[in-house]
Amino acid sequence: MGAEAAEIWRATVLTVFPEMFPGPLGMSLAGRGLERGLWAMDVLDIRDFARDKHRSVDDEPFGGGPGMVMRADVVDAALASVEDRPGPVVYLTPRGRALDQALVRRLAEGPGVSLLCGRYEGIDQRVLDARDVEEVSVGDYVLSGGEPAAIALIDAVVRLLPGIMGNEESPAEESFETGLLEHPHYTRPADWQGRLVPEVLTSGHHEMVRRWRLGEAERITEQRRPDLWARYVKRKGRGEDRGGQEE
Ligand code: ADE
Repeated sequence: MGAEAAEIWRATVLTVFPEMFPGPLGMSLAGRGLERGLWAMDVLDIRDFARDKHRSVDDEPFGGGPGMVMRADVVDAALASVEDRPGPVVYLTPRGRALDQALVRRLAEGPGVSLLCGRYEGIDQRVLDARDVEEVSVGDYVLSGGEPAAIALIDAVVRLLPGIMGNEESPAEESFETGLLEHPHYTRPADWQGRLVPEVLTSGHHEMVRRWRLGEAERITEQRRPDLWARYVKRKGRGEDRGGQEE
């Protein structure tokens, strides 16, 4: 055989709570894709890389203060075990760059990702400096560990992989892909408790429907997300027809 089979997209998770995976990723779109071999996941227990008989992965912070810090030597050994894997190493932390649809798309276009989940107060800075690690946050709030953030990241990436979504579930029109928040959706019944569906949606006039949806998306984005709105207006002024593309 000349042509090699294309490698499937692979998430490698480094965690002290391996039992948290696949968790919700074993269900719905991602779960079906996992079962069908459209993507793969390996979960490594960081504790397996500890050297002492207590299998300790953390210790008290130098300089004092509350909480525990994950040890550089243990995390380094865990990262060394995945260094031959293709794709970036991402450390989930509230100090990281914000996860957005552009980064999700970049990861989905690559071969996979290794995700380092921290617990406790964080990870010894020296191992983060010594290894090429991208720091990524899923939002301006603090989770009790990186695992739920890793699950959110994997979910967002996997749904973009070929074969995961049906044709009818195209991502092209949804929030962030256009640079706008999505327009509202309606289905039957047309009259629900006296609340009627906007008339244009039952008109059968596709161009009017398209314009109404764009107008709603613009109105909602301007109202709720001045940051996205400013970027959208700037792009529109430059004559770019599709937002959400820039890194
Ligand atoms: N770990 C704890 N909080 C987090 C956040 N907001 N994003 C990514 N990782 C985290």
